[in-house]
Amino acid sequence: MKSHSLTVPLTCVASLAILAGALTSVRAQPVLKDAFKNQFLIGAALNEDQFSGKGGCADSLIPAQFNTISPENVLKWESIHPGPNQYDFGSADRYVRYGRKHKMFIVGHTLVWHNQTPAWVFRDDKGNPVDRETLLRRLHDHIATVVGRYKGKINGWDVVNEALNEDGTLRPSPWFKILGGDYLLKAYQFAHEADPKAQLYYNDYSLENAPKRAGAIALIQKLQSQGVPIAAVGLQGHYKMNWPAPAQLEETIKTFSALGIKVMITELDVDVLPAATRSEAAEVGMNFQLQARLNPYTNGLPDSVQQALAKRYADLFEVLVQNRKSMSRVTFWGVTDADSWLNKWPVKGRTSYPLLFDRQCQPKPAFDAVIQVARQGVRSD
Ligand code: GLA
Repeated sequence: MKSHSLTVPLTCVASLAILAGALTSVRAQPVLKDAFKNQFLIGAALNEDQFSGKGGCADSLIPAQFNTISPENVLKWESIHPGPNQYDFGSADRYVRYGRKHKMFIVGHTLVWHNQTPAWVFRDDKGNPVDRETLLRRLHDHIATVVGRYKGKINGWDVVNEALNEDGTLRPSPWFKILGGDYLLKAYQFAHEADPKAQLYYNDYSLENAPKRAGAIALIQKLQSQGVPIAAVGLQGHYKMNWPAPAQLEETIKTFSALGIKVMITELDVDVLPAATRSEAAEVGMNFQLQARLNPYTNGLPDSVQQALAKRYADLFEVLVQNRKSMSRVTFWGVTDADSWLNKWPVKGRTSYPLLFDRQCQPKPAFDAVIQVARQGVRSD
């Protein structure tokens, strides 16, 4: 009896100690959205499992760390409007419900793009290219229906994605070929009509390179002169270890900001794997053969590379924090390394490490580095 009465309190003490330890470690985990709360929103692109409560360890991480979300795929034309008279809102509705439940800033991505848009959009019943009038009507119906459905719920839209070539000219997409260059104006007008309060964005990759940036500036200025209330430009931010240089990013932010619009990083990731191509373009159609030399870290990231990635993230975030008055949002393209598209692109089957959380949802040294920059930014304010 005696020994029993002694064991109970000891067990209690031990459990309390374990509980206290767990609480301390929970409390000690820094939070991105808090660290950047006076600077910009901080978010992630979510896949279907992640906003349906089937994201495993990411399920608790997402609402804890982020205050804005983007949909990886469910609002793209092929997902939401797969056939001429067929809209499929199930997944997009779930995405929006998730964002509202967690009181997040909800991004719509994307209304007009040349990828993940079904072929029927540009063809008639006989398979010939549709005329301008038909395509304009389809564009209007799509935007009015999708933006209209989420009016007042989706806060900002990537209206047009990737309209530019690397030299700054307009990409010869089916949109351009059939409608001419004013398809952009039409798309923004239709979106504004459907939800006058939603923010409207232009989103693209490699705008940090001068020729393409000049094209985007001309495009945005033209839209502004036509009365389009464009709120921000999205730099996708599919970055590499050596591109863009911090100074190049800074110059890009300042140049766009001078147009009177905000700048957002909308699809941030940093690729540490050996380059399969010298191109800086995040052209989703690229697909290179898997070779061992392109996939060196299948058993984990060596510490030296882990540290180099942390340093690279710190350098980039230093620029973002310095220019916080011009920035409205920074969104990562994925939550953990496990769900990054860089495991499949531009080489299928690689083990990639581009984000702040590892495959077990644990913060990486890059996470700590980014938090550190946020804290220093606050201190020097
Ligand atoms: C582009 C698009 C995104 C996504 C990524 C790759 O950047 O804007 O929607 O498809 O490619 O996943």
